[in-house]
Amino acid sequence: MVVPFAPGGPTDTVARVTAESMGRILGQTIVVENVAGAGGTLGSNRVVRADPDGHTILLHHLGLATAVALYRNLPFNPVTDLKPVGVVSDVNMAIIARPGYAPNTLSEVIADIKARGDRVTFAHAVLGAASQLCGVFFMDAIKQKVTEVPFRGGGPVIQALLGDQVDLGCEQTTTSASLVQEKRVKSYAVTSAKRLPSMPDVPTAAEAGVANLEISVWHGLYAPVKTPDAVVAILAEALTEALKDPALIKRFADITTDPTPEKATPEALRKTLQTEIDRWGPMIKATGQFAD
Ligand code: MLT
Repeated sequence: MVVPFAPGGPTDTVARVTAESMGRILGQTIVVENVAGAGGTLGSNRVVRADPDGHTILLHHLGLATAVALYRNLPFNPVTDLKPVGVVSDVNMAIIARPGYAPNTLSEVIADIKARGDRVTFAHAVLGAASQLCGVFFMDAIKQKVTEVPFRGGGPVIQALLGDQVDLGCEQTTTSASLVQEKRVKSYAVTSAKRLPSMPDVPTAAEAGVANLEISVWHGLYAPVKTPDAVVAILAEALTEALKDPALIKRFADITTDPTPEKATPEALRKTLQTEIDRWGPMIKATGQFAD
């Protein structure tokens, strides 16, 4: 199972829990391999080019959909070069900061950015990552730029925030919720329509004064396009069963990630991927940002 981001980040965490449960169901060990770089496109391309025998699969998030608009020279087409297996999970994001960063509310963060401009740093997991997308829309909303600091994944971003090396980040609750609960990072807003039970004191971005910053990070499982349908069906069945596995449900709950067994089918993922390509494309183009 290829994860196109660094170990220790949210995608890696979701993949390892899913792989363990699916492996148990399939009676096989599923090895997770991190192939990080180029906003997740490097790892995706590895799976596009892998033998289509069901032994190489990709676990990626909404970045596979946004890559279509962000990369003008994407070396593959996510719709025609990969075969969907099923949707895995949904997860929200939180705007957070290093513990020593002075602002206490999102309004204070915005005031600091307006006052100090590009001396404020925003860490993300390279262009095309969910964390970068969140930053793009945040900067677009407040009409002010900060200095972007790219890392190879959400894991290294969290380390840099905890080490007080960068000011801000927008991280999936998979890795950020526990740090917010333990007050090891500062938190200003969540990117969901409603407040999250895992951090009820943190306002939504809209409540904190920034409209149109709703980002839900969904994950999908894919195989190379020529993988036989019968093999994909076995994987989809194992995924559905895994997402109903009480052990997985408990571990996903611990990392505030919602399993989506009702969408763990090729049809549901095909639809989700296309809907998200259509949704994000015009929004990304409107920001004028490209990753290449
Ligand atoms: C990761 O696992 O590193 C992330 O999903 C990165 C991101 O998209 O922000």
